Amino acid sequence: MGTERRPRRVLIVGATSAIAAEVARCYAARGASLVLTGRNPARLAAVGDDLRVRGAGSIETEVLDLLDRERHGAVVKRAFAGPLDVALLAHGDLPDQQRCQSEPGEAAGALELNLVATVELLTLLAREFETQGSGTIAVITSVAGDRGRQSNYVYGAAKAGVSVFLQGLRQRLHAMGVRVVTLKPGFVDTPMTAHLPRNPLASSPQRAARAIYHAIESRRDVAYIPWFWRPVMALIRAIPEPLFKKLRL
Ligand SMILES: NC(=O)c1ccc[n+]([C@@H]2O[C@H](COP(=O)([O-])OP(=O)(O)OC[C@H]3O[C@@H](n4cnc5c(N)ncnc54)[C@H](OP(=O)(O)O)[C@@H]3O)[C@@H](O)[C@H]2O)c1
Repeated sequence: MGTERRPRRVLIVGATSAIAAEVARCYAARGASLVLTGRNPARLAAVGDDLRVRGAGSIETEVLDLLDRERHGAVVKRAFAGPLDVALLAHGDLPDQQRCQSEPGEAAGALELNLVATVELLTLLAREFETQGSGTIAVITSVAGDRGRQSNYVYGAAKAGVSVFLQGLRQRLHAMGVRVVTLKPGFVDTPMTAHLPRNPLASSPQRAARAIYHAIESRRDVAYIPWFWRPVMALIRAIPEPLFKKLRL
């Protein structure tokens, strides 16, 4: 299928994310109007200014801490002041796995942002897109949700929960003309991973963003970002559990 060219109206949640800001540049370069949310007003304004210079049709910003779940409804309503073509959810936080193991509140907090807030927002967005009868909901989950590993299974559990939620949502909304895209990046060099040893398979935010833009616009259901993570994760999922539990991953 060809890549969509007409100007679009696009909501990006977590627009200050390194990956999301690059996806937003792909849309801005094609004249899209962008509704951006982020929790840091100064960084959000800087992202908006950059996108204006790069050709965005218009920029609207909403300061939103996603843990403030009571505000989700009002922000979604304002985003739907006009028809919305795409909503991209890009927020996330990689918790410290060791702290999650010693402090239950840390694990719960990671699930609160990465899973619970995401599900709440998706529920509100799904209702609006259903009423509209068109559009695309795209969500950045992670390859970490494909198999639990000792190094990051709390984060992985949150992302797995989102991925399964999206499977059901995709089936539900298909008949209404609304698409749901699951985006599964592998390791990307961003502030989220800056403290980790460099991964030989790491991508730049620019490369990840181009793949994400293409996956959304070429009507994919599930996309690994970049593509080679699909066979890598198929291999990892295929390792029998009795062997997998002995590996240091
Ligand atoms: N980097 C990777 O290797 C990788 C791999 C797979 C999946 N992902 C996923 O890709 C997405 C983007 O991550 P990234 O790598 O671009 O990292 P990033 O640059 O650190 O972006 C994370 C974003 O989440 C936002 N955020 C965190 N807590 C929030 C809250 N309570 N309310 C609102 N926003 C909040 C951050 O806002 P602030 O700017 O205010 O901090 C930031 O915009 C995430 O969903 C992440 O889980 C990343």
